[in-house]
Amino acid sequence: MAHMIIGGKTCQAVSGETLEVRSPVDGQVFEHIPRGQAADIDLAVRAARAALSSDWGKLNASERGRLMMKLSHLVTEHGEELALLEAKDTGKPMTTARNDMIVLARYFEFYGGAADKVHGEVIPFLNGYQVNLLREPLGVTAHIIPWNYPAQMMGRSIAPALAMGNAVVVKPAEDACMSCLRIAELALEAGFPAGALNIVSGLGEEAGAALSNHPDINFISFTGSNEVGVLIQQAAARHAVKCTLELGGKSPHVVFEDANLELAAATVVRGIIQNTGQTCTAGSRLLVQQSIHDKFVALVAEKFKQVRVGTPEMNLDCGPVVNPTQQQRVNRFIEQAKAAGLPVLAQGQIDPGVPAGGYYVMPTFFGNVPADNALAQQEVFGPVLAAMPFTDEAQGIALANGTEFGLLAAVWTENGGRQQRVAKALKCGQV
Ligand code: NAI
Ligand code: MG
Repeated sequence: MAHMIIGGKTCQAVSGETLEVRSPVDGQVFEHIPRGQAADIDLAVRAARAALSSDWGKLNASERGRLMMKLSHLVTEHGEELALLEAKDTGKPMTTARNDMIVLARYFEFYGGAADKVHGEVIPFLNGYQVNLLREPLGVTAHIIPWNYPAQMMGRSIAPALAMGNAVVVKPAEDACMSCLRIAELALEAGFPAGALNIVSGLGEEAGAALSNHPDINFISFTGSNEVGVLIQQAAARHAVKCTLELGGKSPHVVFEDANLELAAATVVRGIIQNTGQTCTAGSRLLVQQSIHDKFVALVAEKFKQVRVGTPEMNLDCGPVVNPTQQQRVNRFIEQAKAAGLPVLAQGQIDPGVPAGGYYVMPTFFGNVPADNALAQQEVFGPVLAAMPFTDEAQGIALANGTEFGLLAAVWTENGGRQQRVAKALKCGQV
């Protein structure tokens, strides 16, 4: 049975209740986790608050950095164990899981190195005055983690918080949290003082809601669905604390006639099948200039047909999706697109050796998707790619910007002026 960590000690939920953990590979229960609820969250927030005025709060920045470096080394040493756990819990291919652990170790390394290099400022003011701007920790920070890259997302969320001396409370996703619980154990082993890093497993609407609504937290970091993101923002507003949200995407590739088509095609396929499409920045829309449309789409289709789905051990391109809800969601999008008459340009293949009961979906590439179709507007969060043509730069930009999302985009052209122009015109966080 897995356990949580509160105040430097491993523990079960106050209620004693547990939740089953199923592997998406075969749908079988392989573990149980504590079903943390409001009482557990309260203990974790209190432990974090207490840590700020005891051992953890007294460490200087370079000592915090050293602890994080130690945690980074431990993650690397336990990389294979963590990757196996992550693969079983999420279904991702072993290569991806191993890579995730390399990234996790780098988050602790990077922010560990940064710990003693974030300085204040001295600001000029009236004669006889000196204004010192200091960088202080926020206090107790809450971290709600998604299930698509559990270990990586936990690292990305808590490493900067710990580097700056905050005490953290983590609520990992009920669908995949085994690696997160293990990382918290490794942090204890690295020597993080009691209460610096607390973790409470449980359901979103129980432990997650209790954490985001707790009156004694100072900051919330959330990655997940738009719906819950809005709830988090409301909770943060009620207590007048800051939050950062990373939500959904419907990210476009905009491919112009002068692009390096071979490179673009390979990247487009990788960008939608990575993590079986369960990536907020997945390139799920393919906008192709009319003059090269048929040729380029055929090139992508040829590569898309090679996509193979299997178990983590088979180590193919895709694994299963995380749970039956995601499986139904992806299948519903595919069925609706087919029913609407959208042409299927290519499909991958599910390895015939996958266990029955696993949550496998068919990678599918649709062509001529109208801009107002669900496939062009809504986040599928699965290996489903939607192509559509555009005539000129202006129309390409308009289509790319024509969703409610704005996370990431890619521009494929060898023309430097166009790269700059289009990147600037795209309304999204990263190009
Ligand atoms: P979700 O937003 O419900 O789950 C993400 C995290 O939020 C989990 O830790 C969950 O326990 C927690 N949570 C859920 N309800 C909560 C609440 N009321 N208060 C506080 N925390 C809560 O996402 P879900 O339902 O698993 O997936 C639905 C869709 O969300 C996916 O199909 C995908 O489109 C999107 N999603 C996007 C992610 C991203 O990386 N941007 C990650 C996960 C999901
Ligand atoms: Mg949800």
